[in-house]
Amino acid sequence: MTHFIDSTLASGLGFVAMDEVNKVIGEIHAYTPDVYCFSHVLSNLTIAVAPGYQGKGVGRLLLNTFCKTAEEQRSDITRIELFARESNKGAISLYQSLGFKIEGSLTKRIKNQDGSLESDILMAWIRQ
Ligand SMILES: CC(C)(COP(=O)(O)OP(=O)(O)OC[C@H]1O[C@@H](n2cnc3c(N)ncnc32)[C@H](O)[C@@H]1OP(=O)(O)O)[C@@H](O)C(=O)NCCC(=O)NCCS
Repeated sequence: MTHFIDSTLASGLGFVAMDEVNKVIGEIHAYTPDVYCFSHVLSNLTIAVAPGYQGKGVGRLLLNTFCKTAEEQRSDITRIELFARESNKGAISLYQSLGFKIEGSLTKRIKNQDGSLESDILMAWIRQ
């Protein structure tokens, strides 16, 4: 967590969603790898909404805010990329609805809790 927060503050973009008593109920972040050739990329976008708050529009609000802010305030960024488990259909359709495209599949990259393997889907948003 400390690494994610430090990297996001240093070179990335991130938001939290809070409820009416300022409890954090969702989070999104991505950051630029510390190498010149990736300086136009926000990578490893990660989003999570607390289980009790899922399915209420919080994830869409976070991702929409993230993409809009990157588009309007980070002209240095032309690519946002992420990985999603192949089975995470809800997240994949959320990303697609906001302009992310599937670029490929990393076969059996993910080991699930039960030991089964599944593919990781690479998706990206490209500035037009
Ligand atoms: C994926 C996640 C961030 C979505 O956040 P959310 O607040 O539940 O999503 P929203 O209520 O804003 O729904 C937005 C869209 O997500 C999709 N979606 C979310 N959960 C879904 C599900 N269980 N089944 C199908 N679609 C789903 C739908 O396309 C939905 O579209 P709609 O707005 O037209 O209804 C959230 O469910 C979560 O934290 N999951 C666990 C962590 C995770 O999987 N993170 C992504 C890793 S790649």
